[in-house]
Amino acid sequence: MDSLSLAHMIRITENAGLKERNSFGIRAMARYWISYDDPRQLYELMQQPDFNSLPRLFMGSGTNLLFIMDYPGCLIHSENRVIKIRHENDYKAEIDAGAGLEWDELVQWTIDRGFYGLENLSYIPGSTGAAPVQNIGAYGVEAGDLITEVDVFDMNTGNEFTLDNKECRFGYRDSIFKNPGNESWLVTRVRFSLSKAPALNLSYRGLNEEFSMEQDKTPAVLRKIIIRIRKGKLPDPEYLGNAGSFFKNPEISIEQFNRIEGVFPGIPCFPAAAAGMLKIPAAWMIEKAGWKGYRQNSAGVYDKQALVLVNYGDASGQEILDLAMKIRESVYDMFGIWLSPEVRIVDGQ
Ligand code: EPU
Repeated sequence: MDSLSLAHMIRITENAGLKERNSFGIRAMARYWISYDDPRQLYELMQQPDFNSLPRLFMGSGTNLLFIMDYPGCLIHSENRVIKIRHENDYKAEIDAGAGLEWDELVQWTIDRGFYGLENLSYIPGSTGAAPVQNIGAYGVEAGDLITEVDVFDMNTGNEFTLDNKECRFGYRDSIFKNPGNESWLVTRVRFSLSKAPALNLSYRGLNEEFSMEQDKTPAVLRKIIIRIRKGKLPDPEYLGNAGSFFKNPEISIEQFNRIEGVFPGIPCFPAAAAGMLKIPAAWMIEKAGWKGYRQNSAGVYDKQALVLVNYGDASGQEILDLAMKIRESVYDMFGIWLSPEVRIVDGQ
């Protein structure tokens, strides 16, 4: 469906409960929850005196956030779920996806049509608009590998512009959208270049072995395997609140790695994007520091994946954060490395 054929709408909920709107299942409130599909209409609303002095946060599906208090401003959420094929030839397809589309719906849609490239990113919770911001990644692929352009609306100026892949400055769970000063940039649409020839990425450890046992060597089968692996390791937020990996995997120099390995033989490492750097699994260090399966009241560390913090029911955001900070300190005491959160901590600012 073409976006122009939709009647534009904007919906405002005052004093909105957030428990159902964040995958950690944290009980918090927002002064306003605003869903929109036309950024221009949203911009006009944001100029009004009731809204223009309030803090605002663009949020997708709330799968990578930790609310540590009520939010005193506007949480802004896209309802644009339109997918369009822009160009297609025998080899490639270029598609446009609205920011409000659930990421995994997009992945399924592409695979159903024989457009390949996103299969390794199957079953990642979250929205399409958040994918370039966080440069979501899994099993050897990052969203930034397939994104050609991102459409942006600047909520401070009302200007619309498009960034190409290079301008997005994609890095490990990083992009230009996270740079200080760019908080007013709203991602409205994301463009992908996908292949019509299934060239599969099986580089991630263990994936090749799993795949070789399958009869059908198709992207759809790879998607099925990825979903199986993810379900085995990561808790379903429906039953156990979480936001995936709580911390990023740190990237350290080879020299620093050698020093740590002298004390902890067997510490795993993987090549990092930058030359001379190695990525080490934060989960391994957290487990070594004794946290795997830990629980205090309703805040805990998942027993199948030490990088995932969980809410067993009624933990507050602050309780989860306190646990994260304790883990961070103990990893520093043991390994001399400060972990950085991957999850965005939302306070009242
Ligand atoms: N490991 C442990 N203990 C554990 C879990 C893992 O020691 O409890 C060690 C093992 O050596 C394992 C290694 O950590 O080989 C890596 O574990 P895993 O494959 O589960 O991946 P990860 O590094 O913990 C990252 C991403 C995930 C992504 C997976 C698969 C980050 C912060 N996380 O996790 O992304 O799904 O790789 O590619 O880079 C997310 O961002 O929310 C997320 C879930």
